Amino acid sequence: MFPLQQFQGIQTPFYYYDTQLLADTLSVINSLLDDNMHMHYAVKANANPRILSQIAEAGLGADCVSGGEIRAALEAGFPAEKIVYAGVGKSDWEIRLGLEQGIFCFNVESIPELEVINDLAAELNRTASVCLRINPNVGAHTHANIQTGLSENKFGIDMQDMESVIRRCSELANINFIGLHFHIGSQILEMDDFKALSLRINELQERLETAGILSVRNINVGGGLGIDYSDPEGHPIPDFKAYIDTYRQHLHLRPGQQLHFECGRSIVGQMGSLIARVLYIKENAIKRFCILDAGMTDLIRPALYDAYHKVENLSAMEREETEPLLYDVVGPVCESSDVFVKYYALPFTQRGDLVALRSAGAYGEIMASQYNCRTLPKAYFSLNKK
Ligand code: LLP
Repeated sequence: MFPLQQFQGIQTPFYYYDTQLLADTLSVINSLLDDNMHMHYAVKANANPRILSQIAEAGLGADCVSGGEIRAALEAGFPAEKIVYAGVGKSDWEIRLGLEQGIFCFNVESIPELEVINDLAAELNRTASVCLRINPNVGAHTHANIQTGLSENKFGIDMQDMESVIRRCSELANINFIGLHFHIGSQILEMDDFKALSLRINELQERLETAGILSVRNINVGGGLGIDYSDPEGHPIPDFKAYIDTYRQHLHLRPGQQLHFECGRSIVGQMGSLIARVLYIKENAIKRFCILDAGMTDLIRPALYDAYHKVENLSAMEREETEPLLYDVVGPVCESSDVFVKYYALPFTQRGDLVALRSAGAYGEIMASQYNCRTLPKAYFSLNKK
């Protein structure tokens, strides 16, 4: 599946993106959405301009968390009225940008933020549409660092304050309350977690109706659908059907209510691989290291979250099959945590081999850094775009 010919002469490490897989993923999503459902791509997962344009062309909206992301989304062709803007710490210039551009809504995380948005909107003579991000206190079966829906996390407004904050919205002349926003975490593979969120939202909607608040036009359930890091070949497109059906089945939408999703990883994760070259094989008394020219600066997920990315020796696939050997696959960065996998079975591997770190389309290139004065990895695309 990797065009090794095309890779000849390209400086490693680099990201390689399968745009055909992205196209297929986007059509699956579009085929599953009802008229009242809207998918906003979470730009944070990968803001490569070409990828953004392809997603915008498919008609999705954008979920942004900074002024920079709003700009990137607009430049890539996402219409402002399909942009949602979240984040616990929005700067004044970022709020102004959103107001001036006329984005669909601000997902607001606190009363102080609501008041600042109101003041800035008044200055610009605009009205800001807002969804309130409610912390649903729903846990998710995922890595602690990427869980967001518990009271101990910094995100969102406490459920107990929901009614009073909605009432506060109606006192603010330049705020238009249009709905509720939630997000429980990322890399979630258990549909029961999304069911738990649905049931919590049902409970909250009933509470609001009892309180006479009937103005919830939009429900945004965030993103979080996980991907299969162990078997990218077997599961190139995540189970969007199960994900969307879970909400369809358990979330009780009121007539006319619009349902919004903010998926990132599940849309772009499997389309990307980090391609690296083997620099050295080094053996000591207890270990065999496979040292790559890619490191945690190119793909930080293993170092930061203990994340697993499947490693494939592409050059060995073209040679005669050999008995696998165990390698610690590591990078060149001066940090002990610069390790991709330990005791990992690879076919006989040698200097010069090309290696792919799979499922790296989400939170890969975008989280790259220049630590150690390293160069940022470039991106290349498959030639088979429909
Ligand atoms: N909406 C909100 C409010 C979010 O905070 C996030 C992700 C998303 C949507 C998109 O979630 P997704 O569908 O991609 O799971 N760097 C970490 C992941 C951080 C996720 C942050 N928020 C990683 O590499 O695993």
